[in-house]
Amino acid sequence: MRRLVLTLAPFVLTAVCPAIADDTGADLYATHCAACHGADGTGEPATERVLGVGVGDLSTLAESNGGEYPAGFVARVVDGRGAPGPHAIPGKRMPAWGRLLQEGDTAEVREEAASRRIQAITDYVRSLQVETPR
Ligand code: HEC
Repeated sequence: MRRLVLTLAPFVLTAVCPAIADDTGADLYATHCAACHGADGTGEPATERVLGVGVGDLSTLAESNGGEYPAGFVARVVDGRGAPGPHAIPGKRMPAWGRLLQEGDTAEVREEAASRRIQAITDYVRSLQVETPR
């Protein structure tokens, strides 16, 4: 458990760092996702070894969904606030990002920032698909 906490610390620190400098999907993906999922979405073998789990392949989400990119699913998994525990998919080690992507003085501003960033990340993951998604 301690090893897992130490392993995840850099990701969590990056995520809660107050100023998320750039809000483009590419930058958000590079900062919050690439360490586990790899720059191209196919997975980062070194991280998978440390975590002891596979992270799946984000570049074939459309392919394995009949050619249609499952945008709603990706947004829900990235947000993770609807999930019962700390992880976006119960029992899997995919962190939930919704709360960490919030930023601002009021609840409304924080929610707006989180939704905008989740949308930008979801759009970026669409661009990683091996097949042109519908
Ligand atoms: C600490 C490592 C880690 C980070 C960082 C991470 N993920 Fe994940 N992700 C996982 C794991 C582990 C799974 C579960 C894989 C499985 O199904 O067994 C997963 C699953 C997913 C899934 C579901 C894939 C499927 O085929 O069902 C999506 C979509 C996803 N991640 C997107 C993202 C995005 C976008 C980010 C950045 C905001 C991100 N992840 C950051 C580890 C991570």
